[in-house]
Amino acid sequence: MSIKSQAQFEKLRAIGKIVRQALDQTAAATRPGITTGELDHVGARVLAENGAESAPPKVYGFPGALCISVNDEAIHGIPGDRVIQTGDLVKLDLVAEKDGFYADAAVTIRAGQASVQADALARCAETAFYQALPAARAGNRVYAIGRAVERETERCGFQVMRELCGHGVGRTIHEPPSIPNYHDPQFRTRLTEGLVITIEPIIAAGSGQGVLQQDRWTIRTADGSLSAHYEHTVVITKGTPILLTAA
Ligand code: CO
Repeated sequence: MSIKSQAQFEKLRAIGKIVRQALDQTAAATRPGITTGELDHVGARVLAENGAESAPPKVYGFPGALCISVNDEAIHGIPGDRVIQTGDLVKLDLVAEKDGFYADAAVTIRAGQASVQADALARCAETAFYQALPAARAGNRVYAIGRAVERETERCGFQVMRELCGHGVGRTIHEPPSIPNYHDPQFRTRLTEGLVITIEPIIAAGSGQGVLQQDRWTIRTADGSLSAHYEHTVVITKGTPILLTAA
């Protein structure tokens, strides 16, 4: 969506804060021994307490409040009986809705002591996000974001997962435009003031090729390498974008 009024901005801001709170509390609970199903309940409770609802179950029939993806699972992992182990790389991804407005964010949590590679990968997803922020300004084209994400990811020695993109958001989960995490000059849509999008590097330690699991939701890396994800919902301005899902 493109924000047309202060009232719309305030509603997006409100759901953005709730998503942040739910993710932060779920992240704080992420430790060896807990199941992904238990983590899902932590996030779902924060949403309920704030009058918000998880969006993927309503929009796509996803079986969980959060997408929780571990190690080689990149996105759309289904919460359940899986027990978090020391060193696991846990991706928490949440889209929620309140009053018809949607916000989307993700973090990568290291459960206990992580390997050097896992640590570097999680950091890289975050730095790639922040490297891309200055490119996400009114007047620039969509490909400027992907170019920045890809450059930083490759500088770290990793690869973006090319099938997985950022997107417009606001009145539902996935809106145009698509925001690839790689440089492709075909993505020429101009960013305009008030446009609401996600910027979400999804990267891997291996080739970056993804494969759909038999559960038909989870996408993991084809080569079994680790993946990491970092995401905020942002509003495009003439300067640095506004992070709706920051604290
Ligand atoms: Co997203």
